[in-house]
Amino acid sequence: CGIVGYIGEKEALPILMDKLRMLTYRGYDSAGIAVSENGHFYVEKCKGKVEELEARLDLEKAHGHVGIGHTRWATHGPPSTRNAHPHLDCSGRIAVVQNGIVENFWELKQELIAKGHEFRSDTDTEVIAHLIEEYYDGNITTAVALAMQRMVGSMAVLVVHKDEEDRIVAAKMDSPPLIIGLGRGENHIASDIPALLHYTNKIYVLEDGEIATVTKDDVIITRYRESTTPQRLYDRRVIVVDWSPEVAQKGGYEHFMLKEMHEQPQTVTDTLLGRVPEDSRLPIEIPELNITPDDVRRVERLTFVACGTAYHAGVIAKYAFEQILRIPVNVDVGSEFRYRQPILGKNEWVIAISQSGETADTIASMREGKEQGARVLAITNVVGSSVARLADGVLYTRAGPEVAVASTKAFIGQIVGVYLLLLYMAQYRHLSPSAQQVVRELRQGLWRSARDIERVLETADKTRAIAERIAEKPVAFFIGRNMDEPLAREGALKLKEISYIHAQGYPAGELKHGTLALLESGVPVVALATQSSVYDKMVSNMQEVLARDAWCIGIVPEGDERVTQLLGEENVLTIPRSNDYLHVLPAAVQVQLIAYYAARALGRDIDQPRNLAKSVTVE
Ligand code: G6P
Repeated sequence: CGIVGYIGEKEALPILMDKLRMLTYRGYDSAGIAVSENGHFYVEKCKGKVEELEARLDLEKAHGHVGIGHTRWATHGPPSTRNAHPHLDCSGRIAVVQNGIVENFWELKQELIAKGHEFRSDTDTEVIAHLIEEYYDGNITTAVALAMQRMVGSMAVLVVHKDEEDRIVAAKMDSPPLIIGLGRGENHIASDIPALLHYTNKIYVLEDGEIATVTKDDVIITRYRESTTPQRLYDRRVIVVDWSPEVAQKGGYEHFMLKEMHEQPQTVTDTLLGRVPEDSRLPIEIPELNITPDDVRRVERLTFVACGTAYHAGVIAKYAFEQILRIPVNVDVGSEFRYRQPILGKNEWVIAISQSGETADTIASMREGKEQGARVLAITNVVGSSVARLADGVLYTRAGPEVAVASTKAFIGQIVGVYLLLLYMAQYRHLSPSAQQVVRELRQGLWRSARDIERVLETADKTRAIAERIAEKPVAFFIGRNMDEPLAREGALKLKEISYIHAQGYPAGELKHGTLALLESGVPVVALATQSSVYDKMVSNMQEVLARDAWCIGIVPEGDERVTQLLGEENVLTIPRSNDYLHVLPAAVQVQLIAYYAARALGRDIDQPRNLAKSVTVE
């Protein structure tokens, strides 16, 4: 989601609308604003894009010198006018917009209902408004600070109180960004820098745990865990931003794809939040999935259906579910499944994986599943999408809007989504002691994989150097075994779609059944060897590649010696060492980076490659 605020001498409304338009890439399923003047709120919100909000505004009434706004990407509750922000408390005096997730919103909501609060939406954000109302005692900053102390999760919040129109309170917990732009006789707030650049290039970046009281002439930043009254604890350094508007839209990154790759650690954390308690004694609960422990015990076979990158997440699921849960798993490309007369039974689930939730072949596969009486589930990134509506139960990946055609952060979200489903089901299936151990490791390790991905992104220079050499070649191969096999396919898909280099991904064992014929001096072969059970076999495959004088690039866990000796340090890319299942996440990022930097070296249109579309809604 995107949030914005304005306080100053000008009319707030046009400024808020302008900033919201700059933030539409962060969400566009609903939008809303609240402006306040002389103790009156003007609130307008609706389902749909910012343009739709604009058309509904009553410019006669919409006056005020202070206001907040929101453009939504649904996480709690489907896109609708009643779920659109701002949300108000019972008295209608407090307006709140939020970007993020209040993990303990359900408990708080029950508590507030017991105290007589009435709720009008399904959102976690409305809880914030009521919680602040509960604490309000004449000072809005204090009330917001107390509310922040009660909440668990990851969020950026803006609050206006009708009786204190001279201020906006902004608070931040964990990671969602919150930027304050400093003007003359006015101050601005937004989820990112580009939305502020029309007005100022001087900013404060709010940190985790901070609350800011923003008036037209001042910004007072406090830590809400330490103090609940606005007091100048420290002076914040003003950052002066020097970005072109074009670069700014992409958050300072050269391309949306690069920006989205950098959002992947956040995707991991957001997708786990509120579902996998860090205390491993507590159960994993995913109510939206709509499946009971008995359903899990009874299920006999799973079929994943998906297209493109999402299909590769399905293949990863096959390896993981069969190895750990010992449930038979099919994986089908959407366009094949619907025509191959699949055989499905009663105790079977069809699980669609789709970023957009609108891919025609995936939707058709779900219909096929329904017709045959299977339970149909979905792992998708878009709340209220066709896939989500059609499914009997949904697991939402929380990658946020993805703009680049080549899917990156959504893929990471899908892998985490697949693992979440696996962990959920593992609670109710009979597992061998060794599988139980793997499940424990996976559950704890998933949180850490956000950091593992970050490490790969931080060391991208070496990947870039290798990718720039690959860019000089007409062809490239990717090979891997076990869970590295779908990653090899994903690496090849990414490379071909954005660099236009002919690329193929293969199971490494298949090399000698055809591909070896194409290997000759200097042909790049990216060999993934992150799976311990087949590591030796991968080393043999690398030797086969080297014997043809081809150029073998290895992707291995840190601390590896054999591959490094065999290929030479300069041809080895590493990922943090954890376990085979978790290795998939940082390894996926390595192959994305190879594709990105190769395409960049060739000057390709990375975010919008030729002939491709982000969402394929036709057959
Ligand atoms: C298109 C996109 C791919 C995506 C595929 C499936 O081909 O370019 O990036 O993987 O569709 O899309 P979905 O939205 O169903 O995940």
